[in-house]
Amino acid sequence: MLEPKEFISDAIAKIKEEIGDEKTIIALSGGVDSSVCSVLTQEAIGDNLTAVFVNHGLLREGEAEQVCSVFEERLNFKYIDASDEFLSELAGVEDPEEKRKIIGRVFIEVFEREAQAVDAKYLVQGTIAPDWIETEGEIKTHHNMALPSGMVLKVVEPVRDLYKDEVRLVGTELGLPDSIVQRQPFPGPGLGVRVVGDLTRENLAVCRAADAIVREEVEKAGLDKELWQYFAVLTDTKVTGVKGDERDFGYLVIIRLISSIDAMTATVPEMPWEVIRTISKRITSEVSEVTHVALSISDKPPSTIEFC
Ligand code: XMP
Repeated sequence: MLEPKEFISDAIAKIKEEIGDEKTIIALSGGVDSSVCSVLTQEAIGDNLTAVFVNHGLLREGEAEQVCSVFEERLNFKYIDASDEFLSELAGVEDPEEKRKIIGRVFIEVFEREAQAVDAKYLVQGTIAPDWIETEGEIKTHHNMALPSGMVLKVVEPVRDLYKDEVRLVGTELGLPDSIVQRQPFPGPGLGVRVVGDLTRENLAVCRAADAIVREEVEKAGLDKELWQYFAVLTDTKVTGVKGDERDFGYLVIIRLISSIDAMTATVPEMPWEVIRTISKRITSEVSEVTHVALSISDKPPSTIEFC
C-alpha cells in the first residue's frame, strides 16, 4: 500500500472522478471498513453522500450512541432506528438460518427506502482484499447491485485493495478514534447470531449486558489487542442456581474468546484465569437472569466463531 496520506489523496481523487455529481449512499455499520469508506467518500463528494446507520435492535450496549457521536458531525449522516421493524419480523423465529434471512431481507428493505429517498445512483461498499481475493477472476472490478425494486446502484469500493491492518492505518490518518479503528469485527446480523432461540427484547438485553461485561474486562486487562473477537452468547438452556439463599433457575451464558488472523480458522487461546473468573462472577451477580457462565474452548473448525 502507499503511505496512508498518499493513499487518502489518491482514493479521494478516484472517488471524485468515478462518482462525479451523482447522489451516493453507504450503509455505515461503525466497523472500520465502512467507516473509512464513509469518510473518504464524504471528503470526495461532500453531502452528495448519505451515510445510513441502521439500528436493527441487535446492536451492543452503547453502540448506537457511540457511532452517532463519532459521525453525526462529520458526515451527511442518517440514523434509522428500525428495531421495531426487525424485531417484529423476527418474533418467534428460532431457526438460525431463518433469522439470518429475515435480518438480511429487512436490512435491504430499510436501505432501499433510503436509497430511493435520495435518488442514489452509486453505492459505496467497504469491501477489502480478503473479501474477494480467494475468488479472484470471478468478481469483476466494476459490478452493479440491483435492489429488489429494480433500482440499480453502481458499486464503488474505495478500499478493495487493502487488508484490515492497512484500513486501520488509513482510519487513524483520517482522525477516526480507536473505538472505531481498533474495533473487533462485529457481524452484520449482530446479537441475532449470539442469542440462541427467540430474539425477544428481553433476551437481547440479557445478552447485551453480559457482552458489555466481557468487553469491559477483556479491554481492562489489555487482552483486546491479542484477541480477534471476544463476546458473550446467550443460550436457551436454563440451569439451576442459588442466589442469596434462594433457588434460582436462570440462563446459561457462554464466553467466547477467539484468536484468528482471518476468521477462516480460529483458536481459543489460554487466558489469565483471573480475568475469566471476574467475568463469570460479574455476569452472575450483575445480570439477574443468568445463573451459570461457561467458557467455550472449541476451535474453528469444527465449531464456527458465532453460535447461530
Ligand atoms: P463464523 O461464525 O462463520 O464467523 O466462524 C466468521 C467471522 O465472520 C463473522 N460473521 C459475519 N459477519 N455477517 C457478517 O458481517 C454475517 O452474517 C456473519 N456471520 C459471521 C464472525 O463474527 C466472524 O468474525
